[in-house]
Amino acid sequence: MSAVPSTHLNDGNSIPQLGFGVFQIPPEETTDAVRAALEVGYRHIDTAEMYGNEREVGEAVRDFGIDRADVYVTSKLNNGAHAPDDARSAFAGTLDALGFDYLDLFLIHWPLPTLYDGDYVSTWRVLEELRGEGRVRSIGVSNFQVEHLERLAAEADVVPAVNQIELHPYFLNAEVCAYDEAHGIATQAWSPIAQGRVLDDPVVTAIAERVGRTPAQVVLRWHIQRGNIVFPKSTSPARMVENFEIFDFELEPGELAQIDGLDEGEAGRIGPNPDTFAFVPG
Ligand SMILES: NC(=O)c1ccc[n+]([C@@H]2O[C@H](COP(=O)([O-])OP(=O)(O)OC[C@H]3O[C@@H](n4cnc5c(N)ncnc54)[C@H](OP(=O)(O)O)[C@@H]3O)[C@@H](O)[C@H]2O)c1
Repeated sequence: MSAVPSTHLNDGNSIPQLGFGVFQIPPEETTDAVRAALEVGYRHIDTAEMYGNEREVGEAVRDFGIDRADVYVTSKLNNGAHAPDDARSAFAGTLDALGFDYLDLFLIHWPLPTLYDGDYVSTWRVLEELRGEGRVRSIGVSNFQVEHLERLAAEADVVPAVNQIELHPYFLNAEVCAYDEAHGIATQAWSPIAQGRVLDDPVVTAIAERVGRTPAQVVLRWHIQRGNIVFPKSTSPARMVENFEIFDFELEPGELAQIDGLDEGEAGRIGPNPDTFAFVPG
């Protein structure tokens, strides 16, 4: 029923290349939003313990009456739970909140190199164990810089299946993407439309006019053709449909290059820098 392609991961699993993100959707609105997204055809939901809405994501999936195996669900380890025992209980809490007996993908949300004595390796080893126990199908990281990925490569056994990073036309995050690609790590692009900021860029609007699509569709299509996995967030069912209808047109190489040209490097970053981010929710 859906034209969403799958991306193959380095562990043999695959993930729908387009999903639905629920960051900043209040819990009381999450069940309706996820239900609406499932109605549109989304079969991949990206949540996190930090978002405070895992329970409502699980409820929406169950209420929709779809087989658990037909929806791909990602969650992430919260920043206060990097110590190995805490990571194990946090994962159990995530499964419990979702009401699932397994998770498709579990990520370390932030590397937090200035906390926990800079030790994200022992945290990663817990994710390796959880995968070994069959409680999560794939494991990955989020906001890991090249240095953090290199350290995992040197000290751990399993290469992350994905790295979920900030990535949009104003911030191509090129070095991290190049590392991911060279090492078989799939790149997931968070804030894929820069939380709306790129949508009135003249380069984007000109391409949108030329191809007869909306700016959001153009930017999401650019991600898809670059091979990124995306999960735009919206609480508007009309925008959920708009963001889903990106598989029946193609951008020309010149148009892709024009959008690549919007990169502002570090200045284009809208979220925190992973090298210094040290927020632990209270
Ligand atoms: N790993 C991490 O550290 C991390 C960090 C941030 C985000 N994420 C993940 O990435 C997902 C997406 O990122 P994001 O939520 O920050 O930003 P985003 O998807 O780039 O943008 C969401 C914003 O754009 C608006 N929007 C959505 N579709 C639109 C359209 N077609 N036209 C105009 N406006 C539109 C939404 O408003 P309406 O809701 O009003 O439509 C919302 O304000 C998150 O939900 C989360 O799953 C991960």
